[in-house]
Amino acid sequence: MKPLSVDRLAHQDIPDICALYKRVWDGTKELPTELVKSWQPTPLEFTSWMEGVTYFAARRDGRMIGAIGCEILEGSCRLVHLAVDPEARRQGVATALVTASVEWARRNTCHSVWVDLLDRFTAATALFKSLGFGECGVLHKHRLGEDVRLSEKLL
Ligand SMILES: CC(C)(COP(=O)(O)OP(=O)(O)OC[C@H]1O[C@@H](n2cnc3c(N)ncnc32)[C@H](O)[C@@H]1OP(=O)(O)O)[C@@H](O)C(=O)NCCC(=O)NCCS
Repeated sequence: MKPLSVDRLAHQDIPDICALYKRVWDGTKELPTELVKSWQPTPLEFTSWMEGVTYFAARRDGRMIGAIGCEILEGSCRLVHLAVDPEARRQGVATALVTASVEWARRNTCHSVWVDLLDRFTAATALFKSLGFGECGVLHKHRLGEDVRLSEKLL
């Protein structure tokens, strides 16, 4: 398999990341339409997502196959919008993205990294558990009526 690279997202990558989010969420039929739409930004919407959030993109053979956002608030880094191309799953792409994010948070003197996931996202829950994140709470009916689970990793 060709090598994977993980780099900070640049402005010229916006069309690629929007196309990635579209591919990822178009494939999920069972989610509420409002949620799916809110996770498929247009390039203009994504520009505002970038305010205060550092994104990393994973590429293989020049093609963007995964992305994640990192937002530091009060010494803690929240991970947002993690997604991997359906055709590139179970190949360590999310692991590489989360690892790069945790390293970035550490370099930025964060005390912890955390993520909130829909309860139904069992793959993501398993991923974060495998990376040493511990579950630290549940927000009931928090996102359009869906339960959300919080996981954290102390640095
Ligand atoms: C969750 C997601 C990001 C995982 O990406 P990925 O690149 O396939 O994950 P990795 O290959 O790094 O997986 C690492 C480990 O996580 C766990 N894991 C990942 N996907 C899993 C699945 N579908 N079922 C069970 N465990 C899973 C496994 O322990 C896996 O290790 P293994 O493959 O050696 O068993 C991807 O499935 C995805 O984009 N899902 C849709 C979007 C999403 O849920 N985003 C997160 C919240 S916004």
